[in-house]
Amino acid sequence: MDARQLKIEAARVALSHVEDGMRLGIGTGSTAEEFVRLLAARIGEEGLAVTGVPTSERTAELCRALGVPLATLDEMPELDLTIDGADEIDAQLSLIKGGGGALLREKIVAAASARMLVIADSSKVVETLGRFPLPIEVNPFGLKATEIAIASAAARLGLQGPLALRMAGDAPFVTDGGHLIIDASFGRIPDTQALSDALHAIPGVVEHGLFLGLAFAAIIADAGGVRTLRLAR
Ligand code: A5P
Repeated sequence: MDARQLKIEAARVALSHVEDGMRLGIGTGSTAEEFVRLLAARIGEEGLAVTGVPTSERTAELCRALGVPLATLDEMPELDLTIDGADEIDAQLSLIKGGGGALLREKIVAAASARMLVIADSSKVVETLGRFPLPIEVNPFGLKATEIAIASAAARLGLQGPLALRMAGDAPFVTDGGHLIIDASFGRIPDTQALSDALHAIPGVVEHGLFLGLAFAAIIADAGGVRTLRLAR
């Protein structure tokens, strides 16, 4: 099975969690897009009635093209379920997200949902988060000062590594919210909560890609089949 097929298989299992009448948060990225395609097919073929809140302009565009009914989060501020991809997933279902640059809206939408379900292929599952550079969304004002503050906060936690301003060709990548992204290659992040708190304390940081305590399950596909990771209770 190729990588795309694995994403489709995870998305297919996620679709079985979707019920008529649900208010759905819809994620961003290649895996979430496979979910949108399957969702659109069920809406078209079976008349499934759902309303989606997209986590990015890119996802909104795909939903509109495929006929998935949409609302804004202001119109529908409480959601039943959000389905989204991830860049890394650990056994506690802590995530790194933001590889596609949509982390701020993704986190706002996930936090407005009663439940968040993650879909991914097994390459995303790690023992400790941090192999994937952590996306940090920052205000463009005072970028250099914010970078220095991020490096100092990380160093106090024993973390160091290059901070790279994300580019889109020759110009900085700009998020849907008009912010910039710094990709922080800290390597293993043993205390994700401490790093999350430290980053949130920096005024120029808008949000970061550590999603802690948001996901209730992750549907993981590999060549052997699809499994669901849940938090041990
Ligand atoms: C978008 O900002 C990200 O959080 C994506 O959810 C994440 O990068 C996963 O994307 P893929 O499904 O394309 O790997």
